[in-house]
Amino acid sequence: MGFYARVGLILAAAVFCVTNSGKLPNSIGRCSVKDPEFNECLKKNVEDAIHQFKKETPELGLNTLDPLDIPELIIGEGHGPVNVVQHFKNVKLYGLTDSIVLSASADFKNRILHATSITPELRLQGEYSMRGRVMLLPVFGDGPCNVTLYNTKINHTIYAEPFQKKGKTFWHFSNYTVTLRPDRMTYKFDNLFNGEERLANNILNVLNENWNEVFTDVRDGYEKSFGLIFHGLANRVFSKVAVADIFMDVEDLV
Ligand SMILES: *[C@@H]1O[C@H](CO)[C@@H](O)[C@H](O)[C@H]1NC(C)=O
Ligand SMILES: *[C@@H]1O[C@H](CO)[C@@H](O)[C@H](O)[C@H]1NC(C)=O
Ligand SMILES: *[C@@H]1O[C@H](CO)[C@@H](O)[C@H](O)[C@H]1NC(C)=O
Repeated sequence: MGFYARVGLILAAAVFCVTNSGKLPNSIGRCSVKDPEFNECLKKNVEDAIHQFKKETPELGLNTLDPLDIPELIIGEGHGPVNVVQHFKNVKLYGLTDSIVLSASADFKNRILHATSITPELRLQGEYSMRGRVMLLPVFGDGPCNVTLYNTKINHTIYAEPFQKKGKTFWHFSNYTVTLRPDRMTYKFDNLFNGEERLANNILNVLNENWNEVFTDVRDGYEKSFGLIFHGLANRVFSKVAVADIFMDVEDLV
């Protein structure tokens, strides 16, 4: 029987104020689809934009993306060593705006975007609760936590559907899938076993020493969650700015 990690996530509506339509700030460069170096241009401009999102972007009604508030995030059980649901609440996600874009491309005919990126340090900080087993060892607790992913390579695949608003073509992303490969990960869960320190340190050591096995088992859940986060962000921006105001010379293609 197939088993899929359960994923739940609600993005903070508070990150964005509602504005009907917007413009890319002048500080974000636009690429011409006729430029033979379009992919290079896109890579650079997307990376610059992500770095700028560290500050608020009133033109797009965006508050800072660093940290990004995530009210709830649920990483489901795996099929291997992780027999516990990791339930996170009131999470702040740090580090997204330090991402480096390694490549980017756009297929305007099929409306598919691809990008690869690397984020030096992604930190999920908030409250956790869990009860179950990891590598056959019982684990339970709730309290503050800090889960950090280092040098995470991310592949992004994004599908767009066009829609019309006030005579202009906009894109709505129908799906946004990511794959995640961190180089290393550290887990810190405070107050495990109601503060029973010897047991807590023991299980934290097991988690940190076996981070790769643990992560691989529940990677699906992380990928779905990050996909939802990026999907939400991308749609908030593209729902406000017409395609022809994002790319230059694109009129014949959309
Ligand atoms: C989170 O954990 C990482 C790795 O252990 C550490 O470098 C960082 O200082 C911690 N941050 C906080 C706020 O606890
Ligand atoms: C991204 O895709 C490439 C090509 O398919 C693959 O070699 C690489 O391992 C993938 N990276 C991640 C982070 O999934
Ligand atoms: C993503 O959306 C496109 C249409 O916009 C569809 O063709 C494709 O099957 C979807 N892929 C997934 C994984 O849902």
